[in-house]
Amino acid sequence: MFRVVLFGSRNDAPRSAAGFDPAKDIPSLAGKVIMITGAAGFLGRQTAIELARYSQPARIYVADLPRDEEAKKAVASEILRGAYGDHEEAAEPRTEIRFVDLDLASLESVRDCAANFVAQEEQLDILFLNAGIIRVSPATTKEGYEAHFGINYLGHALLARLLTPLLRRTAERPGADVRVVVVSSEGHLMAPKNGIDFDSVKSDCAGMHYAKRYGQSKVALIGLARELSRQYPQFKVAAVHPGRILTGMAESLRKESLLTRLILPIAPLFCVSPTVGVRNHLWAATSSDVVSGMYYEPVGVPGKLSASAQDDNLLKRLHEWTDDALSAIRPLE
Ligand SMILES: NC(=O)c1ccc[n+]([C@@H]2O[C@H](COP(=O)([O-])OP(=O)(O)OC[C@H]3O[C@@H](n4cnc5c(N)ncnc54)[C@H](OP(=O)(O)O)[C@@H]3O)[C@@H](O)[C@H]2O)c1
Repeated sequence: MFRVVLFGSRNDAPRSAAGFDPAKDIPSLAGKVIMITGAAGFLGRQTAIELARYSQPARIYVADLPRDEEAKKAVASEILRGAYGDHEEAAEPRTEIRFVDLDLASLESVRDCAANFVAQEEQLDILFLNAGIIRVSPATTKEGYEAHFGINYLGHALLARLLTPLLRRTAERPGADVRVVVVSSEGHLMAPKNGIDFDSVKSDCAGMHYAKRYGQSKVALIGLARELSRQYPQFKVAAVHPGRILTGMAESLRKESLLTRLILPIAPLFCVSPTVGVRNHLWAATSSDVVSGMYYEPVGVPGKLSASAQDDNLLKRLHEWTDDALSAIRPLE
């Protein structure tokens, strides 16, 4: 089939090899607690909507960039409206939506987010590491890491690390099914030849094409999923590529890339809706068929991995590099 790779995504419609239908296949998540990073954005928000609609967990935390109270309420209302419609008398029980501030471009903010969450909750059943950026302009995070690498990968690696004790405690509960869903991308195939350019990640990587900067952050996320699955066999960890969906990311690209501005008018011909685009997220969070540590294309199909993403030496180096980069961050009490 004709296949195009565009902003790290593919054009063939999601296959339903697993026959996954959220309406029928998502089990009840009553009593469970979920955190979704980037849930004010398209895919995170739609994931929250579908989970609230079909599985009614106790609470879903939207972990996203700080905004004023009105804007936070608007995100929660949008999710509840998407899940239950405008009817006040929607069937009980309802999922509660809470907002927690998270700026992945600041390791201090990531720690505050995890501390804030742990102060509110005694369990975390599903963690989606979903937030992400794709931009052309070279930039760095607060600690000086290349923006894609720092936000998409390093901030998430720290968040997972700080929340792991809570995930482990949750996994000991009767009937637990703890999941970590790491949102990577087919764009990992566009990473530099060596997979991750460790020599330059603590800079703005101004000389590196944005696709490579995005790509190496997504290789690192696949490495994170593999590392978490190796260390914690009591969780199921999956890396996913969602497919190609017109979201806030396309808007970032439109602002900064002439090619994207030219392609965007016809992009709807090649894209799927967010409702379809979150099926791999939902499958990875709930299906009993998930094999921990795997990378999946939509829906539930083992994905094509680059040589770097399969390179054990690179992933070992990534783990050591990450330990070093995060060594100054105190664990939560
Ligand atoms: N859309 C696709 O075709 C596609 C393809 C492959 C992979 N993906 C992956 O899917 C995931 C979700 O992306 P999306 O398509 O839903 O894009 P999106 O609509 O732009 O959502 C991304 C979310 O991440 C948030 N975010 C950005 N910077 C952040 C930071 N420093 N700290 C915390 N949150 C931050 C954004 O917040 P603001 O809106 O406030 O900036 C937004 O809510 C990403 O990891 C992306 O790489 C998407």
